[in-house]
Amino acid sequence: MKPAIQIISERISQAIQKATGQNVPAIVTPATDSKFGDYQSNNALALAKQLKANPRQLAEKIIAQLQIDDICQKPEIAGAGFINLRLKPEFVAKNLRETVSDKDRLGIEKTNKPETVVVDFSGPNIAKQMHVGHLRSTIIGDCICRMLELAGHKVIRQNHIGDWGTQFGMLVEFLKERLEKLFNSHSVEWTAGPIEDIEDFYRQASEQYKNNTEFAGKARTTIADLHSGNPACLELWQMIVTETRRHYLPLYKMLGVNLTINDERGESFYKDKLADVVNDLKKQGLAVESEGAICVFPEGFKTKDDKPMPFIIQKSDGAFLYATTDLAALRYRINELKADEIIYVTDARQKQHFEMLFAVAKMAGWVKDTKLVHITFGSVLGEDGKPLKTRSGENVKLKELLDEAVKRAKAVVQEKNPDLPDDEKENIAQSVGIGAVKYADYSNNRTSDYIFSYDKMLAMDGNTAPYMQYVYARVCSIFKKGNIDIKKELNEIKEIYLNEPAEFELAKQLIRYSEAFNSAIADFKPNFLTAYLYELAQKFSAFYNACPVLDAQEKIRPSRLLLCDLTAKIIRHGLENLLGIKTIERM
Ligand code: ARG
Repeated sequence: MKPAIQIISERISQAIQKATGQNVPAIVTPATDSKFGDYQSNNALALAKQLKANPRQLAEKIIAQLQIDDICQKPEIAGAGFINLRLKPEFVAKNLRETVSDKDRLGIEKTNKPETVVVDFSGPNIAKQMHVGHLRSTIIGDCICRMLELAGHKVIRQNHIGDWGTQFGMLVEFLKERLEKLFNSHSVEWTAGPIEDIEDFYRQASEQYKNNTEFAGKARTTIADLHSGNPACLELWQMIVTETRRHYLPLYKMLGVNLTINDERGESFYKDKLADVVNDLKKQGLAVESEGAICVFPEGFKTKDDKPMPFIIQKSDGAFLYATTDLAALRYRINELKADEIIYVTDARQKQHFEMLFAVAKMAGWVKDTKLVHITFGSVLGEDGKPLKTRSGENVKLKELLDEAVKRAKAVVQEKNPDLPDDEKENIAQSVGIGAVKYADYSNNRTSDYIFSYDKMLAMDGNTAPYMQYVYARVCSIFKKGNIDIKKELNEIKEIYLNEPAEFELAKQLIRYSEAFNSAIADFKPNFLTAYLYELAQKFSAFYNACPVLDAQEKIRPSRLLLCDLTAKIIRHGLENLLGIKTIERM
């Protein structure tokens, strides 16, 4: 189903063509104020400049050619030459029916150009807990995948975990020594412990690496052993990976993020492809030695003191780097995964890394038609406006952050609804707590920093998950009340009445779901979805305050029930299918 804005745009373009002979894209936007109608076009203004004509007269000419009376009331000209458009209730009613009957998509169209899109997101680092910095990549990446899938693309999720690199040399060496000690003391049972232990080993290993030259030497031998595939070293390394996975996979589940072990292609996956990357770039004369390291100097990148900026792909000791792995991954995604587009979701600090990566891959001729996109996001800040940290100055652990949100949600449920069964209380607390963290993140423009505040995100009013979940539960409660056969009324609905202003406003919002979706996916901005859902919830509340539903006249009741039903369906679809946030039937 085409969104109204798109049909209107097409009609405006046709009218301009007829009136002026010009072939220009229509500029149609939702009206800034409902006083001016529903949509607005400022094409006449833009075109008048170009044609040196009077904008109001040009607007009149366009309107004279505009065939739009099946959709809108008579267009009006306002101000310097804006064309204001108001939807007709008949058109809205027809659209509403089509939206309801489009059960799985609620009006959202499929693309006519399905592509294979690789989305690289989350990317936690092995031997460390996920921290707040991974929250945004993980949930924004997930939302991007969900939107692309709904639009009909083939999405390949890639979790580029940080599981390879020199740090594993010291970690494996440390574990080896520890293991020997354990064996010597005859306590043979040993497995890598929970993630906290591994983090502690990591700390101790780094300490020793710095302060103990003998250990540092051994760690260097161990990294060489690990990289050349020594089975004992690989086994220890595998243990660390497995244990870290036991930490982050449950977090994905808790977050409602669709990432499984099958989506993992960590850095280690590319280990045998790194030498080729360097050799190919050398052969092409693109990689050169500079101060002992092998570097590529893509055009246009300068250091602070205006020298060419190196993209380092091999260190003087022979070690490969993050950049080398990313080049290998990019080639793999183009050649093996057949990506039409690759989207990387990381924070803005990696902007230059990806710009250089794309530039080098293009220089090497590895990118034919594949579109390369880096989707960035701002930082999560504490209430003091500085990056969120614990009191001792460490990154806040994601698990602790989420647990705290659930705990606080639980306290609210306990206070408001002490008589609910325990497992329901727990379920509500999970859905509200996690939903609140995710929704607060999504509702901010992703490119901005935002302040993390439990109080704000858990508030029952405002643009928050609990408010959306509450409105959803409220609509559900209507259907539970009353002894009317609602299914039957909805099935046998004859006419849709949109006479009350609040009714009409809600109906217009309901048919705009696909429009909101299109804006969100165009720029991969989930905040367009949350803003739409929030406006929908507000319009529903206004409608519900102004218009009786169950007590409405029998003639009108089915039509009002339909408005309620579709409101619930869209909120649920938006929250669950696109944002991965759970709804609850009572709160
Ligand atoms: N592990 C990296 C980090 O924590 C993120 C990986 C992003 N993806 C990539 N292909 N470089 O910053």
